[in-house]
Order: sequence, then structure tokens, then C-alpha cells
Amino acid sequence: MPLVTSTEMFKKAYDGGYAVGAFNVNNMEIVQGITEAAREVSAPLILQVSKGARAYANHTYLVKLVEAATIECPNIPIVLHLDHGPDFETCKSCIDGGFTSVMIDASSKPFAENIEITKKVVEYAHDHGVVVEAELGTLAGVEDEVKVSAEDSSYTHPEEVEEFVTKTGCDSLAIAIGTSHGAYKFTAAQCTRNEKGILVPPPLRFDVLEEVSKRLPGFPIVLHGSSSVPQEYVKMINENGGKMPDAVGIPEEQLRKAATLSVCKINIDSDLRLAMTGTIRQFFNEHPDKFDPREYLKPARANIKELVKHKLINVLGCAGKA
Ligand code: G3H
Ligand code: 13P
Ligand code: ZN
Repeated sequence: MPLVTSTEMFKKAYDGGYAVGAFNVNNMEIVQGITEAAREVSAPLILQVSKGARAYANHTYLVKLVEAATIECPNIPIVLHLDHGPDFETCKSCIDGGFTSVMIDASSKPFAENIEITKKVVEYAHDHGVVVEAELGTLAGVEDEVKVSAEDSSYTHPEEVEEFVTKTGCDSLAIAIGTSHGAYKFTAAQCTRNEKGILVPPPLRFDVLEEVSKRLPGFPIVLHGSSSVPQEYVKMINENGGKMPDAVGIPEEQLRKAATLSVCKINIDSDLRLAMTGTIRQFFNEHPDKFDPREYLKPARANIKELVKHKLINVLGCAGKA
């Protein structure tokens, strides 16, 4: 089937108490790993492209790779989404260039300005049959060139969400409840240590999510920064020449819980990067004589597929929902 918007997907996810996985794509192997997993477990899918991905791989290559996935996976609905659109022009370029969904991220701007920019994107997008995700609140961590420190991050203020959604007309809303971008989501000082000495991050603010949901009944909420930073891959990286001390993510049980509530879209990127990097590092360590990219990209793609399958079945709960 051709690319779809997320409208139907989110309605079903909201009513069904699960979330759709939104995975970032940057090259063919990542697209293949994710879509083969979704095809196998029959899950709806959002493939998302950041400004950095467009700069790296080129808009046309990414659109054509995702279109190829729709041909290879004809029975699952796939959305092509712009992740963290920084301005109207980038959103317009993606809307004009075949995307079915865009995010305008003006969350770092003052409230009134965020409304103004988002509204402009919504008007253009809706005129072209494209849906829009917006954001209120600021996540900590790194996204594109922007690095937000934990002190500068702020939870979404529930009392602002109705006015924001009504005035902008956005189709879904990303909120800040304690998730964070990247592989280092929390400093050691923000965490406690369990009996095994492993860092345990502070819990997500489900009270904020609940307040937002009460004010926006039936409205799809989005969580960014939702990688769990699998410790098996952190270990694999560190045991094969890498150095990622104290990388820590969001516990999967908390994401599972969010998926049963109003959260309809959960963004995962860093986990795929860790799987790919860990696998390739291990491959080179074990086979220092090899130099054919197909030989090391093949197990990397296979591990991305396994990781995504696990997320779809056990974390998002969207397997079998295509
Ligand atoms: O939230 C950001 C995503 O992980 C995309 O990262 O800007 O490095 O492509 P990127
Ligand atoms: P992670 O860095 O936790 O994978 O978050 C990805 C994300 O939010 C993409 O928009
Ligand atoms: Zn994000």
C-alpha cells in the first residue's frame, strides 16, 4: 500500500492501548532492519527522518528507500515523517517532497511564537493532506546540533495544552515528562544505583501525562527520547574498543505503561545506533582481516531487526495491529 498518514494509526492505537513505533532512518540497512521486523510481526510503522538524516543521505534517497519498503511490505501501513522540523521551510520541503507527516519543533520558542509557527505549518500541511506533530516542553539531551542540558529542560505545563492544540490545530503533541534524547539520558548524579551497581534513572512523570490526557481526551500524545539504551549493546561497544561509560536510558516497563495510556507514538533512534555500532565493532574485533561492508552491515542489520521486533512486541504492544 502507498504511504499513509498517522490519523487512522493513532486512533486505533489510542483505543487499543498500544503505541506505534517511530524509528529514525538514515540508510538502507536501517530501513531494511526496521521494516523486515514490522513485516514479520505485522505492525504499523512510522519511519522518521531528521534534518541531520536529510543532510547525510539526501532527501530523495531517503524517500525512495522508504517507498521501496512500502513495495516490499505491502501489508503494513507505513508513515514517512519529518522528525524535529526546525522551521516552516523544512516542513514545506518535506510536505512538497512526499512525506505524509511532519513535526514542527518550535518547543524552544516562547509559547505564543510556538503557536504561531506551528499554526502556519498546520495550515500548509493540512491543505496538502499531511498531518502535523508539535511539541510543548523541552527535553534534555542532544538532537541535531541542539544540546539541551538537564537544567534547561522543562516538563510540559498541562495547563497550556488545550490552548496550544486548539489554536494550532496540530494532530499530535510531543510532551516532556522526563525522557531525554541520546544515549546519556541522565547523569550519574540524577540516578540511584541498584544492588548490582547499575544506574537507575528517575521515573517518568506519569502525573504530568495524566493531567495532559485529562485535558485532551482522545488526543494522541508522543514521547521523544525513548530509547532504553540496552546494556548488552553498551557492553558490546565497551568490550570492543568503545568508551561509553554510564550510558543509561528509559526503562522499558515505563514505556510499556505509557503505551497503554494516551501515548500513541514512541520515538526510538539511539537504541538502533547502539545495536549497529556494537555489532560492527565486535565484527571488526573478531575479523580484523575483513573489509567488505556487506559482511559487517549484514549482522548489524540483523541485530536492528531483532531489536525492533522486541520493541514492537514487548514494549509498544503494536505487533499484529497492522
Ligand atoms: O531526536 C533526534 C533523533 O535521534 C535524530 O538524531 O539529528 O542525529 O539525526 P539526528
Ligand atoms: P532517542 O535518542 O532516545 O532514541 O530518541 C529519539 C528521538 O526522540 C527522535 O526524535
Ligand atoms: Zn526527538
